[in-house]
Amino acid sequence: MDESITPRRFVEALPHDVPKHWLPGNEVVSSLLNAYTVLVPANEAFYIRTLNACQSRIADPALRARCQAFIRQEAQHGVAHKRYWQNLDAQGYAYRGFERVVDRVIFRTMDRWGPLWLRASLVSCVEHINAYLGYEFLSQAILSEADPRVRDLMEWHFAEEIEHRAVAFDLLQAVAPRYAVRLAGALTTAALFYLLMTGLAIALLAQDRLLWRRSTLHQAVEHVGPGHQMGRRTLRHLWNYLKPGFHPAQLGGDAVAAATLARQTAARPPVVVAMGAKAE
Ligand SMILES: [Fe+2]
Ligand SMILES: [Fe+2]
Repeated sequence: MDESITPRRFVEALPHDVPKHWLPGNEVVSSLLNAYTVLVPANEAFYIRTLNACQSRIADPALRARCQAFIRQEAQHGVAHKRYWQNLDAQGYAYRGFERVVDRVIFRTMDRWGPLWLRASLVSCVEHINAYLGYEFLSQAILSEADPRVRDLMEWHFAEEIEHRAVAFDLLQAVAPRYAVRLAGALTTAALFYLLMTGLAIALLAQDRLLWRRSTLHQAVEHVGPGHQMGRRTLRHLWNYLKPGFHPAQLGGDAVAAATLARQTAARPPVVVAMGAKAE
């Protein structure tokens, strides 16, 4: 696994003519990733606060440098997804109240009351989820027919999640390596992540009056079952995380992530721009 992590800025325009359901014929996946977009900034701000709080406990300078590169990548993810909120606003979606409540009730409460070992474990598990979502969306080319601007935003983020997937896990191993800690974080995170993302996606579909349609149910079944097989694959990825010998390097996906980022960097005009030297 290539350990280099390059912070990049997403520079492509996201004009308001992007369609509401930007993956044609699949309002379910469009809504799931719109929900992801809403949840990303508060999530990633929480990762950054958690990693910063752990810095004094990290003895290894290489791990400290990887944490800094991770923080710079996550900060840019938050900025880019928040830019897309303007499109969600222009499309008339109501989501900001929900987002504020999630930030206050979950993340700020966790900052205040959650022990650092639990916060580090939550970040480690959600980073595994981000990485396997990236792996599945990129390796299955699920967004190949999507509006190219939103596809670029999502695929850039997914590729970087693959690129830095080991950082939070390695940090957890450095500050709280007990298996029970990993287990506690995994159970909490997996339940919360899927509850929030699915709940918000359902709310967005309801706002579009698309929830109670046969084709919506069909798209959901295809995504979870025979099409993208995300039900079976998600369970397998979560099961892998619970194995005592797990390490994020085992996920793979480096080649597809590197190819995505190379294509986006080489595009004219560029989709993403590297922000500086690589952290090795
Ligand atoms: Fe991210
Ligand atoms: Fe990440």
